Amino acid sequence: MKLGTGVAASGLAAKVTILEPMRLGAGPRPVPPSDTIRFAILGTGIEGCSLLTSSLPIPGVECVAAADLYDSRHIAAREALNGKDIETTREYGRLIDRKDIDAIICATPDHWHRRIVEEACQAGKDVYCEKPMSHTVEDGAAMVAAVGKYHRICEVGSQRVSSILYAKAKEIWDSGKLGMVDTIQAAWDRNTDFGAFQQPIPPDASPRTIDWDTWLDGAPPRPFDPDRFFRWRRFKDYGAGLAGDLFVHLLSGIHFVTGTNQPAERAYASGDIFYYKDGREYPDLLWTLYDYPKFKVVLRCNSNNASEGEFFRFYGKNGTMVIDGNSLTYRAEASSHQMDSYTIYGWPRNLREQYEAEWNKEHPLPQVGAFKVEDETEVFTLPPGYSDHTQHLANFFHAMRTRQHVVEDEVFGNHAALGCHLANQSYFNRTVAVWDAAAQQIKNT
Ligand SMILES: NC(=O)c1ccc[n+]([C@@H]2O[C@H](COP(=O)([O-])OP(=O)(O)OC[C@H]3O[C@@H](n4cnc5c(N)ncnc54)[C@H](O)[C@@H]3O)[C@@H](O)[C@H]2O)c1
Repeated sequence: MKLGTGVAASGLAAKVTILEPMRLGAGPRPVPPSDTIRFAILGTGIEGCSLLTSSLPIPGVECVAAADLYDSRHIAAREALNGKDIETTREYGRLIDRKDIDAIICATPDHWHRRIVEEACQAGKDVYCEKPMSHTVEDGAAMVAAVGKYHRICEVGSQRVSSILYAKAKEIWDSGKLGMVDTIQAAWDRNTDFGAFQQPIPPDASPRTIDWDTWLDGAPPRPFDPDRFFRWRRFKDYGAGLAGDLFVHLLSGIHFVTGTNQPAERAYASGDIFYYKDGREYPDLLWTLYDYPKFKVVLRCNSNNASEGEFFRFYGKNGTMVIDGNSLTYRAEASSHQMDSYTIYGWPRNLREQYEAEWNKEHPLPQVGAFKVEDETEVFTLPPGYSDHTQHLANFFHAMRTRQHVVEDEVFGNHAALGCHLANQSYFNRTVAVWDAAAQQIKNT
């Protein structure tokens, strides 16, 4: 760890630590060619291409094939791999059937996740599945069952769970330094059209270049619609709106830091379509208040104001921890046990003086040199160029070699996704959504 000094929000000099990246442990280096993990990727759109590029620095792994229903994405996949000549196809099943492939990365829209994970597990492949793991509550349960039944390794793709910044946040949480924490607040706000799911549509998009009917899968049939194909997050048939896209990252980060591996017990969501009245079904502003057994969580995604960006705040009796972009700040709270110099103004002077004298007797000033600095502030930052995406993928490949479950396995991923489904169910039904663990269902109150 590299140390330095900086100025914290309190105005005092704070200790700034640049965190050291972990080794990308896909296997012992150098990995012999016979021991290389060979993977195929299904879906090479925005996230698929990003994953391909992120996989390049990991030793002992290689992408050998890619499937996508839109032909231009075959070219994009090869480009993301610096021009590597891999098999590309529209037929994902061909790649799941290939015996020389060890793992499948699923980076398709959410409505395809269950089918791909089930088929890949059945074919004996380990699976990296993008977030949110499930499109519905039922899909999540079926995916957990499939991974268990075929004894596969599964990692879900909220990469913050593998970030060294979140590992440091977890260390601080586990140390108990924050004291009792009653509230965790997190937000991911944006103010761009593409951030609000109005991505540009490439000029060559057509029924000739895109296999639209296969893309629909079980969703209601409709004529070719590039608006739905590229901007699917806005529609219930394929995605889960702001909750599925962004809440899931926030919930995964919170679950990881706090060591929570269960969905929230209840959720109340509120929001609306304030600006993007483009036919979307999901809101462009979403707030949700979640009940967990030991704390409350408040999440917000606003597509119409980015002034606060993305942050997590953990509010403790003894300290506050804030994750803001690439940095983590811990700031001690002033002690809550202080002499009251406010409410005693309603007392006569002699009673005030008596109270102050007794307080001072019970709380003697520390000896010279034994003062504790109450306003302790520590800052941790990521080193330049650090990629939690690469680390997350490396953790998956390492788990494949060791057969040890990753932190963000199918159970963890399912719990985070359930939080998204709770929020959406509450929003659409204008009610509190309750997780019924015994029935494995969401109920309305
Ligand atoms: N972890 C992250 O930070 C992150 C970021 C963005 C997206 N995602 C997730 O990644 C997934 C994909 O999102 P995206 O933004 O890349 O979407 P996208 O629309 O840009 O790309 C998805 C691609 O999947 C292809 N596809 C769909 N069904 C297919 C099938 N049966 N076989 C082969 N290809 C198929 C489509 O043709 C499309 O090109 C989503 O689950 C999303 O939530 C994760």
